[in-house]
Amino acid sequence: MFQKIESKNFDIEGSHTIEVALKNGRYKSLERLFSLKPAEIVSEVDKSGLRGKGGGGAPAGKKWKLLDGFEGRNKYLVVNADESEPGTFKDRQILEYDPHLLIEGMIDTCYAIGANSAYIYIRGEYAFWAKRLNEAIKEAYKEGYLGKNIKGSSFSLDITVHRGAGAYICGEKSALLESLEGKRGHPRLKPHQKEPEWLFGEPTLVNNVETIASVPYIVENGYEAYRAFGTEKSPGTMLFGLSGHINTPGIYEAEFGSSMSEYIQKAGNGITEGKKLKAVIPGGSSCAILKAEEIDDITLDYESLREHGSSLGTGGMIVMSEDVFIPDITKNLLEFYHHESCGQCTPCREGVGWSDRLLKKILDGNGTKKDIDTILDVADLMNGKTICVFAPAVSAVLVSHIKKFTDEFYSLIK
Ligand SMILES: Cc1cc2nc3c(=O)[nH]c(=O)nc-3n(C[C@H](O)[C@H](O)[C@H](O)COP(=O)(O)O)c2cc1C
Ligand code: SF4
Repeated sequence: MFQKIESKNFDIEGSHTIEVALKNGRYKSLERLFSLKPAEIVSEVDKSGLRGKGGGGAPAGKKWKLLDGFEGRNKYLVVNADESEPGTFKDRQILEYDPHLLIEGMIDTCYAIGANSAYIYIRGEYAFWAKRLNEAIKEAYKEGYLGKNIKGSSFSLDITVHRGAGAYICGEKSALLESLEGKRGHPRLKPHQKEPEWLFGEPTLVNNVETIASVPYIVENGYEAYRAFGTEKSPGTMLFGLSGHINTPGIYEAEFGSSMSEYIQKAGNGITEGKKLKAVIPGGSSCAILKAEEIDDITLDYESLREHGSSLGTGGMIVMSEDVFIPDITKNLLEFYHHESCGQCTPCREGVGWSDRLLKKILDGNGTKKDIDTILDVADLMNGKTICVFAPAVSAVLVSHIKKFTDEFYSLIK
């Protein structure tokens, strides 16, 4: 179950410094990287089955291939370090304990896709981690791992860190790119065919911090070594996380396909105060909630969670004990989403606000059964009718909370 690939160096004293990082295997993948052609690296990542770890689980290799055929253009890699999803704090661990793993992964990725400039878009609130990252980047330049002709090769790379200003929606990749271009962070309309993202009018790859941090292992050891972990469709490992009513919250790397209940038990050492488990939100707040009795059959991979009507998301599990009253949790989340909707689409802007107001009315003891039905109707209207998947995610949250804990919502109706 537990397997340290990305988190291998996390517990080593001073692991964030280049001196300790080099002693512990960082930048080793560059030897094999520069002995292979860029297309061979893309193929290696494709065959590894690596999937995006920012929430959607898109196959990384397929996305990298979208950058093919733009020779002679300035291509960019943008690393998404916005990490604002409630319950999610895995990328932060990489930035804190092994920033050179991310830089190494960025060198590997940029070499493969043919980019010489890369950005890291980091959540505004991550002031400490932005500083740590900038220090690591400075060290990497000094040691010749960034800049012109990296370690005597013909490949050059510059990295720029850009701090966000606190908007959750700027984690959505196209809003992030708008923000990086100096505009308001509004998600863009999606093209009807698969194409890369665009930054400053140039073809661009956007990947999550952890996705990029998974690349050095694949480049160094080959795709089969990565596939030795996890499942056929969800290979490798993930920095799964635990927060909430759990005795030992934190980030514990494990293979995809591990049993969810065993993971919660072993990594989390039980529910606080010896209470019973009531529910789990499996991968950041935007995933449908699961009842305690549902999780026994679930394994931590994209397929199993989808089969059970939820999603793996960011792998950050929010654990709730029997003392929790679910409508309180729903209210807390709705307040957050109401505040964070960018407001471009009417179903989202009005729908999230409307549900938030109705739920507060119900919690204040002034609600009717019809109000609960109205929230479900509004949730339906928010699904599949907006520019980005923010609104459908809120819809799934609302429907799962109300349908699975109906009695608790009805208990509020006088
Ligand atoms: C509302 C919203 C917020 C998101 N926030 C993040 C985030 O903080 N970090 C992240 O990596 N991806 C986030 N995503 C997913 C990104 O749009 C994108 O799919 C991801 O960065 C791609 O990287 P990956 O393929 O490596 O996962 C968010 C998506 C949505 C709809
Ligand atoms: S769904 Fe919501 S967050 Fe996404 S673009 Fe529309 S209004 Fe903005």
